[in-house]
Amino acid sequence: MAFATTSASGQQSQAIDKDAAPSPSIFHTKVLSINLDDLSSADSQSSINLQTAIQQLRSGNIIAFPTETVYGLGADATCSAAVQRIYAAKQRPVDNPLIVHFASLEQLRTLLGGPIPKIYESLIERFWPGPLTIILPLPSPSPLAPEVTHSLRTFGARMPSLPLALTLIQQSGLPLAAPSANASGRPSPTKAQHVIEDLNGRISLILDGGSCDVGVESTVVDGLCEPPCILRPGGVSMDEIRQCRGWESVVNAYASSEQNTQAPSGVNMHVSLPTSSGDNDAAIGPRAPGMKYRHYAPRAPVILVDAQAWHRLDELIVDARKKGHVKIGVLRTRSPESTGNGWDQNGENGGQIEEICIGPTVKAMAHGLFAAFRELDYRGVDVIYVEGLSVRTEGRTSAEKDANDEDGEAVMNRIRKAAGERIMV
Ligand code: TXA
Ligand code: MG
Repeated sequence: MAFATTSASGQQSQAIDKDAAPSPSIFHTKVLSINLDDLSSADSQSSINLQTAIQQLRSGNIIAFPTETVYGLGADATCSAAVQRIYAAKQRPVDNPLIVHFASLEQLRTLLGGPIPKIYESLIERFWPGPLTIILPLPSPSPLAPEVTHSLRTFGARMPSLPLALTLIQQSGLPLAAPSANASGRPSPTKAQHVIEDLNGRISLILDGGSCDVGVESTVVDGLCEPPCILRPGGVSMDEIRQCRGWESVVNAYASSEQNTQAPSGVNMHVSLPTSSGDNDAAIGPRAPGMKYRHYAPRAPVILVDAQAWHRLDELIVDARKKGHVKIGVLRTRSPESTGNGWDQNGENGGQIEEICIGPTVKAMAHGLFAAFRELDYRGVDVIYVEGLSVRTEGRTSAEKDANDEDGEAVMNRIRKAAGERIMV
């Protein structure tokens, strides 16, 4: 079968057989930049690059593109062979369904062949376009490729807010199935460079629109059940969702996928978490199928140190040295950057500390978390200690909240799922 190869100009030099089964073909991956301001002129390089991307999508190929959350790996959601190429390129488990991206409500209604369930009205009004995915009943017959939803009778729909993503979807005229554009299990990409690291040679084209603003993926909500629930925390917080009509009593349905990371309160714990990626853990069984897999992990092992245990960092570093770790990564969230006092920064044993501070606001942490994981990998650290946040998502009264009480749940969820070990006090 023939996959497209790209010439130096980025143009497709060979047609692909749209319906053929995917193979792990080697591509010459092109990175094409797009500047939105240049799209008004049809002759500009950005317009040419956008048309190249659209052409690839229409011929059943897959491309990486930016959204406001993370980079996505997009395919025509109605074309089975194209969607299969996503799973092959990412090496994603086939039972982990994809989100379908739309540019307008009209495009979504056309696909549904009917109205959007009323429960979503208030959320759509407030958060679309934006980092929120809603679960919808699959129409029957469904125009979506069956691989998008695996065996589910529902599908996830999202309208991204990044103008480049909206323009791509709108001009292609296609609903785009798009998971995050990382290799399965790795941190999601927030820059084109991250996509290259994971998928170079596995996809033909990356549209480079700069760095993603939000930095964590969309919040996934299910309003088809009672009470409605959050399947994955993300760019829209639980507090924000609770303020919407019909969503006042929304519950968290993803905690079960983290149950192995929860400690009984008041107990000293130092727990080891499962390190496998992609195992089918029926005992955990979260409702968003993707949440049962280990995710977001850099190459170096991640150790989550709870906020209350962070004062033990020096002691933990000494332990790490004893275990033979030479280069130690420290990822700070709330605490200020250290002066390095008392640390063996470049000690006699050749030990070194590589420190990155991604806080202090939750917005900054979300924006910087995945990039920081990758950066610590470039620096060649042997282990990464991450400072946890204290977050409470349940049972908060409005009197308890104040302007500084941001919801760090999406950030903590990503750290928990990347961590192989957790230090608790
Ligand atoms: O921000 C985002 O959502 C990014 C950008 C590219 O849009 N996409 C993204 O996709 O994070 P992905 O595939 O990495 O994560 C999709 C999540 C998975 O946890 C999956 O299990 C869940 O959404 N999901 C998809 N369809 C579902 C369905 N029908 N029911 C329940 N969960 C679903
Ligand atoms: Mg993902």
